[in-house]
Amino acid sequence: MSSHPIDATSTSAWQDLSAHEAELHADLRGWFAADPARAERLSFPLADLHVDLSKNLVTDETLALLVRLADEVGLSDRLQAQLRGDHINVTEDRAVLHTALRRPAGASPALVVDGQDVDADVQAELTKMFAFADRVRSGGWTGVTGERVRTVVNIGIGGSDLGPVMAYEALKPYVQDGLEVRFVSNIDPTDLAEKVKGLDPRTTLFIVASKTFGTLETLTNARLARDWLWRELGTEDTDEARNAAVAQHFVAVSTALDKVAAFGIDPANAFGFWDWVGGRYSVDSVIGTSLAIAIGPDAFREFLAGFHAVDTHVATTPFAQNVPVLMGLLNVWYVNFLGAHTHAVLPYAQYLHRFPAYLQQLTMESNGKSVRWDGSPVTTQTGEVFWGEPGTNGQHAFYQLIHQGTRLIPSDFIAVANPAHPLKDGETDVHGLFLANFFAQTKALAFGKTADEVRAEGTAEDIVPARVFSGNRPTTSILAPSLTPSVLGQLIALYEHITFVQGVVWGIDSFDQWGVELGKKLALEIAPAVEGDTSALDAQDPSTKALIAKYLELRG
Ligand code: F6P
Repeated sequence: MSSHPIDATSTSAWQDLSAHEAELHADLRGWFAADPARAERLSFPLADLHVDLSKNLVTDETLALLVRLADEVGLSDRLQAQLRGDHINVTEDRAVLHTALRRPAGASPALVVDGQDVDADVQAELTKMFAFADRVRSGGWTGVTGERVRTVVNIGIGGSDLGPVMAYEALKPYVQDGLEVRFVSNIDPTDLAEKVKGLDPRTTLFIVASKTFGTLETLTNARLARDWLWRELGTEDTDEARNAAVAQHFVAVSTALDKVAAFGIDPANAFGFWDWVGGRYSVDSVIGTSLAIAIGPDAFREFLAGFHAVDTHVATTPFAQNVPVLMGLLNVWYVNFLGAHTHAVLPYAQYLHRFPAYLQQLTMESNGKSVRWDGSPVTTQTGEVFWGEPGTNGQHAFYQLIHQGTRLIPSDFIAVANPAHPLKDGETDVHGLFLANFFAQTKALAFGKTADEVRAEGTAEDIVPARVFSGNRPTTSILAPSLTPSVLGQLIALYEHITFVQGVVWGIDSFDQWGVELGKKLALEIAPAVEGDTSALDAQDPSTKALIAKYLELRG
């Protein structure tokens, strides 16, 4: 592999895409009218998912040029490099092997990276996590008073929170009766205080989830939780009682088992993973211990199988039919050629209500970069803002802007055919009504409503412009049979690979996150000033100093 990324803007495909864009007059109405097979031709299977790309602002020529772009930037080589464990996370000199986390047991040939049998390591840790999950689920694992666990509290932030909480919410119907998981992430003490409210310490298990075991928020919350436990159990007085409480009510998930021990958690009660798993790519590692407890090992294995099905698709399907590759390339098309700044993800499935938040870390921490992986400046715009809310809530909030605003907002609509709760309103199947909205929105966005159509409804002429919908607002529709653990794994893996494809085109390292470091460091430097240390306060810039002084005044 070359030690420099190929500059996408210097490829002939890029030049051809620019010329093509200048001549392209997006006309979804016309394109569908002239080509009745468009929907079928531009819809693709991806494991259990049906993905319809036909309402995107592309012709067959656009897609062919985008696929050529993928070829010219060496996407195939880069993908193989990732899958085999090359150190493509160059700024941290690490392999990027989240795909190894979901390889099936006994996969052949074994994946050996840097001399280590990765498959064996992954299976060993999964076996350990599943055995623990079974003990908690069966009541075999108890607290110090001998009572079984009823509530698991996951303490983590970023990738050690967003994945587990999103998946737990998504898979609620699979959660064992009598078990609940809560999630504490924010260092705002309100978060911990609210999450332990009403809990019985005798039946509460804390999981401290931190890849590095050095994250300020997580370690602070873990100490607050430990204090709460000791206080509520009445085990504050002796070291023995305190240690016994921690041993039965705290486990950890980390790559830094030495730091776990320093915190007071027995490494025997810790589950490990590896530096080649990025935090935002870790929900399918032991970072998902809370989820494994909630839904059980069998469902967790199905979850992993869903990821793997998409990994297999990505690795083996020609780019012209390769769904994550096409969706990643479409995003490049919108960002770099059509000027999109943001991308909406709109799940028509209430259980996916945290999916957009999860994707924000996955996509924006990965692709929010201004230099390429060799340190040179990027030559194009990079990561777009991902955002969204579940339908139909979003419809009554921000869809106005997507339909009639001045900005282009490519949107992914995600729905499941079979609901967990097939409720009826009289004779009406409410899920059907819900999905009628899903179909209606993508239709309205694509085809709009002309002035003549508005007039034909008898609208007064001066109101007509306000009631016109331009159409040609691009959407992708993703339809799944139902929200199973496997389908959730498929959806996550789909977006992981989309993110990867975009990163390769832009030549960036999608697996580091240096952009979060400066703020963390400054917070530690500023903390003494906030505590009233005047020399630390004096060392601040005038605005920060004045703000802290105002804060101290308000605190009295
Ligand atoms: O600050 C960003 C980050 O490093 C994320 O990438 C990561 O998911 C999160 O912090 C939490 O890190 P850790 O799991 O090491 O506590």
